[in-house]
Amino acid sequence: MTSSKSPYTISAKTQEVVDDYRKYVAGGFAPYPVALTRVLGSQAWDIDEKQYIDFLSMYSVVNMGHNHPKILAAAIKAMSEGAVINLPFHSPYYGQLAEKLHQMFGYDKFVAMTSGAEAADAAVKIARKWGYLTKKIPEGKCHILTAAACYHGVTISTVSLASKKSHLFGPFVPSVGSTSPSGKVVAFGMINDLREALELDGERIAAFMIEPIQGSAGIIVPPKGYLKEVAELCKKHNVLFVCDEVQTGLGRTGADLCHLREGVRPDLVVLGKALAGGMYALSGVLGDDNTMSLIDPFEIGSTMAANPVGCSAAIAALDVLVDEQLSSRANEMGALLVSTLSAADLPHVKEITGHGLFYALVLDDKPPKVTPRRIVSLLAQRGVLASAAGLKRIRICPPLTISKEELLKGVEILIGVFKDIEDMGELPAEVLVDVRH
Ligand SMILES: Cc1ncc(COP(=O)(O)O)c(C=O)c1O
Repeated sequence: MTSSKSPYTISAKTQEVVDDYRKYVAGGFAPYPVALTRVLGSQAWDIDEKQYIDFLSMYSVVNMGHNHPKILAAAIKAMSEGAVINLPFHSPYYGQLAEKLHQMFGYDKFVAMTSGAEAADAAVKIARKWGYLTKKIPEGKCHILTAAACYHGVTISTVSLASKKSHLFGPFVPSVGSTSPSGKVVAFGMINDLREALELDGERIAAFMIEPIQGSAGIIVPPKGYLKEVAELCKKHNVLFVCDEVQTGLGRTGADLCHLREGVRPDLVVLGKALAGGMYALSGVLGDDNTMSLIDPFEIGSTMAANPVGCSAAIAALDVLVDEQLSSRANEMGALLVSTLSAADLPHVKEITGHGLFYALVLDDKPPKVTPRRIVSLLAQRGVLASAAGLKRIRICPPLTISKEELLKGVEILIGVFKDIEDMGELPAEVLVDVRH
């Protein structure tokens, strides 16, 4: 790890990876020019064997640490049994995972998908079906309300849930999003907006779906008590409360699920990312029989959803979450992170916001050379992986298993980057991209 102010150079091997990507890959999430080849715990190594401290957890996928031996062993066990896919037969792992989730979180049922977006999409379908069959909303009139600046994925249905989208992908899924049928826009964290929307349109709203802390918008924490008031208002208007915990769940915010911090019980919970400990793509929805029993065969699922490898890894990942007390660890390490950063009085940081080990540094509006992408770029040069969130925030979310020493080493590098950033010349990946992740 270097702390020099030398210009940022990209190695020939990394450049080759970047060139391949530029030449042959479409879409994606505007990756920084770092080519990772190996990870373990809170450490990562690039193609040149340069070592990094992970302050990102790959967007809350590796809450349990990279390559956790117990999760790896569980994934390898299922893989070596050869049963990589069970469809259309049973696999013991799926039922066992659903039972474990039931024991941990108390919901009757679980349905698995692969990506977070698919699980969010599934929650919308379940809520709509409930809206028609149970709430008796007239057919075609059901609305799913979200909060402005939300992020639930980039499939056509989940983009439709968002307030900001490229119009060139339209037409979008109708009757979903942060504007109520009568035109009331619901801002995240503003309980009066929700109250007004439900008073105006509650009869045709089937669900209000939010992230308990908005992750991709930049770790936006709602006012204390917001989730409680949301739950009460939803109950009053017979509207399902849906919590998308894809990013906030499984220990990240200092509770096994973020909404538990306020003691609420949403009707549907969307899970993803860390569910299989980063060893496999696995997501899904938790809910009680009143909603989940409405799903008929062939309505929610996919070929690779609920595959034995993902389910076996997820069972182990949930054990690790509990056995290693990762939620309390998140709080402990988060407190150390915040106290050390606050004591450093970082220039251009006007706020540190978050919970558990889910934090963003909020930058002030001053010098043009102090941008999240520049800071993240320099951090990578000096051996810390983080990411920009929105246009003014830097996301700091290490694996919950990070050691105190690794955390403090990463913070020391971060402090040095803030000191030097204004004097640095051009940095790779510094272009201001409105990265929604
Ligand atoms: C809250 C939330 N929901 C859904 C998603 C989409 O998950 P995926 O990228 O696995 O589709 C994300 C991804 O960042 C997310 O943060």
